[in-house]
Amino acid sequence: MLKENVKKQLIDGLNEDLAAELGTVIRCTYQAGKSFGLQGAELREILEKEVQDELRHASFLTDAIIDLGGEPTTAPQPFEKRDTLKAMLELDLKMETEGVENYKKHSQIADGLGDVELKVKLEEMAADEAGHAREIRRLLKGL
Ligand SMILES: [Fe+2]
Ligand SMILES: [Fe+2]
Repeated sequence: MLKENVKKQLIDGLNEDLAAELGTVIRCTYQAGKSFGLQGAELREILEKEVQDELRHASFLTDAIIDLGGEPTTAPQPFEKRDTLKAMLELDLKMETEGVENYKKHSQIADGLGDVELKVKLEEMAADEAGHAREIRRLLKGL
């Protein structure tokens, strides 16, 4: 594939990641507000901490897309509102797992373009999401 086409593919991929991050910020904020009781109080703390990571990811992606010559999206990926803590966490786990896979995939594309910084940063973000997924799995075990 031509280098320009690969770059376009990467910009599109990163824009999907950015939409997902923006959606996650909104989802976590919403879910924190809907977390009640003792378990809910614990979940709120974890979600509020996670939002900071996702905001950092979103701002890195915005800069990376601009640097590649693309236009960063400002539209968050919509999400399903769930009623119980368990159902919320199951959705979060699914989203985090998808995030890991997407960042790994896009890191490989960046590697193919010889962009070592982007390759490593996207891998680090895959690792961040994997850490979030682990934390959620631990929470789910107790529900
Ligand atoms: Fe993230
Ligand atoms: Fe995450």
